[in-house]
Amino acid sequence: MDLTVKISGIEFKNPLILASGILDEQGETMLRIAKAGAGGIVTKSIGMEERAGYNNPTVVDLEHGLINAVGLANPGIKNFKEEIKIAKKGNVPVIGSIFGKVDEFPYLAKIMENYGVDGIELNLSCPHVKGYGSEIGQDPDAVEDVINDVKKSVNIPVFAKLTPNVTDIVEIAKSAGKADALVLINTVRAIAIDVYAKKPVLSNLIGGYSGPGIKPIGLRAVYDVRKEMDIPIIGVGGILTWKDAVEYILAGANAVQIGSGLYYKGINIFKEILSGIEDYMIKENFSKIEDFSGLAVK
Ligand SMILES: Cc1cc2nc3c(=O)[nH]c(=O)nc-3n(C[C@H](O)[C@H](O)[C@H](O)COP(=O)(O)O)c2cc1C
Repeated sequence: MDLTVKISGIEFKNPLILASGILDEQGETMLRIAKAGAGGIVTKSIGMEERAGYNNPTVVDLEHGLINAVGLANPGIKNFKEEIKIAKKGNVPVIGSIFGKVDEFPYLAKIMENYGVDGIELNLSCPHVKGYGSEIGQDPDAVEDVINDVKKSVNIPVFAKLTPNVTDIVEIAKSAGKADALVLINTVRAIAIDVYAKKPVLSNLIGGYSGPGIKPIGLRAVYDVRKEMDIPIIGVGGILTWKDAVEYILAGANAVQIGSGLYYKGINIFKEILSGIEDYMIKENFSKIEDFSGLAVK
């Protein structure tokens, strides 16, 4: 059985990739995740300058997911070289995630490339930091411009991570069509209210919802885009079990990312999901991932 997947030339030993923002600000934790069986690693989104992020509370644990507004806390691109170097010792592809203002992306991508990453992931979709993320990701022209500019500045594959916080994700996906792959989805804009304090729980008021509650939304995004476009898709949102991962692949994903699942299941989640996918493939007579990618799309 062949569990490898190739996405625009990058070979992953299995289709389970660490999502941006979870245990990936430091080289050592990325290395631990590579050793725990992940097929690839995406770094925390890195910007021009070091950012402390928002005051606590930055994460609320709800019944069906988490709402976070970390505020793109990150060490800044200049301080990230060593972390990439350590992460690369895991011998799995390392994708450098970056965020910024429209004109900062090409520079950030170039530095990441110089640090030795295998690909770039453009975070065009952080839902809770003004001026970054979603404001770019909700504007088809801005999405197209950022991708064109970054593609000119680097020679490695460029993935575009899109936000579900739009009226029509297919429209945005089409404007991102020159990317080497699409990553669907980032978190869903959400709010939690404390009934006794009678105000929103998060210091930033609004955050991004992740975990089991958003799986159907992520699946719908992947499905809708796969129906219209022939481009590699990496599905992300609420994957905790092998079944969740298989659902994304059947909806048209070529690989998946796991974020909040690490919070719920711990670092063994990669091995657990992989073994479930293997059993499924044996039962269903599939010899490689692409045998069932997109089968549910009508
Ligand atoms: C605490 C936290 C921090 C995150 N930080 C980032 C980030 O820096 N960049 C990014 O593109 N996505 C970030 N995300 C979004 C995840 O990569 C992922 O798209 C989303 O959480 C849905 O997947 P999940 O349900 O598996 O967590 C973050 C998510 C969480 C929960």
